[in-house]
Amino acid sequence: MKVLVTGANGQLGQDVVRIFNQLGHEVYGLSRDRLDITNQEQCNSVIFDLQPDAVIHCAAYTAVDAAEMEEDTAYLVNAVGSRNIVVAAEKVGAKVCYISTDYVFDGHSNEAYREYDNTDPQTVYGKSKRAGEQLVQTLSSRYYIVRTSWVYGSHGNNFVKTMLKLGAEKPSLQVVNDQLGSPTYTVDLAYFLEELIQTERYGVYHASNTETCSWFEFAQAIFDYAGLKPELLPCTTEQFPRPAPRPKNSIMEHLSIRTNGLRDLRPWKEALQDFIKNEI
Ligand SMILES: NC(=O)c1ccc[n+]([C@@H]2O[C@H](COP(=O)([O-])OP(=O)(O)OC[C@H]3O[C@@H](n4cnc5c(N)ncnc54)[C@H](OP(=O)(O)O)[C@@H]3O)[C@@H](O)[C@H]2O)c1
Repeated sequence: MKVLVTGANGQLGQDVVRIFNQLGHEVYGLSRDRLDITNQEQCNSVIFDLQPDAVIHCAAYTAVDAAEMEEDTAYLVNAVGSRNIVVAAEKVGAKVCYISTDYVFDGHSNEAYREYDNTDPQTVYGKSKRAGEQLVQTLSSRYYIVRTSWVYGSHGNNFVKTMLKLGAEKPSLQVVNDQLGSPTYTVDLAYFLEELIQTERYGVYHASNTETCSWFEFAQAIFDYAGLKPELLPCTTEQFPRPAPRPKNSIMEHLSIRTNGLRDLRPWKEALQDFIKNEI
């Protein structure tokens, strides 16, 4: 397939470009300097010139805390920018795959969130990503919305890399033990997206590595697999207030993957082991 990837310099975008290339697709990975999604004319002309079969829309404003102070920028990129991508894609008949987030939910539920549960984002970032989802749903006739969580990979900053650095430098550290979710390895998500976009199984998906943990348990596994032995202490969210509140429950049911007969991602511990063994 001819595939255009937005945000191709980002953490996920870089692995999507690499994996799709490896799997034999004709890939156009465009970073902000070649495709600024907030520029509607540029979106229209670039997408018209390339005539992709599908657009994997990875570009986003992802600074969760900064977004609380930069509402306009968050909405400009995540809502307006996504609208620009979808409008241009629709004109050339391209499918759109919009990457979204667990932050569209309020995080208060005692159960795992299902794809068609009501959303109620609690942060500017989450609200702007939900606005992007709504525009995609309204304006694209062939879309996939793929919500993921706790993403890490070899590019960019993420929790795994931070823990590896701190674990090597500090004798002792505290990590929150009262927020639950599922880590997602960019490479596994890229393989899932590659399978998904070749189908006509449009709709909303939750895609993370399977099985769940707290950030504390995630950190513990990172140190175990990396052979690091700092003293690791559990703490509560209240002990580390942040400008944007974090969801206590980020666990997402993979109902759409199951009901559409797609292959689920492997358990997060297997993915993490692979990442630490092969990419660090
Ligand atoms: N990271 C997570 O834990 C997580 C969790 C759930 C969902 N997600 C979602 O997953 C997707 C990928 O996230 P990520 O971790 O790869 O984020 P990332 O590393 O921050 O990548 C986002 C990319 O978007 C680009 N971008 C920002 N504004 C742009 C614009 N106006 N035009 C074109 N490109 C622009 C950024 O470019 P610059 O480098 O030039 O700023 C960056 O390369 C996002 O949709 C995010 O919301 C991420």
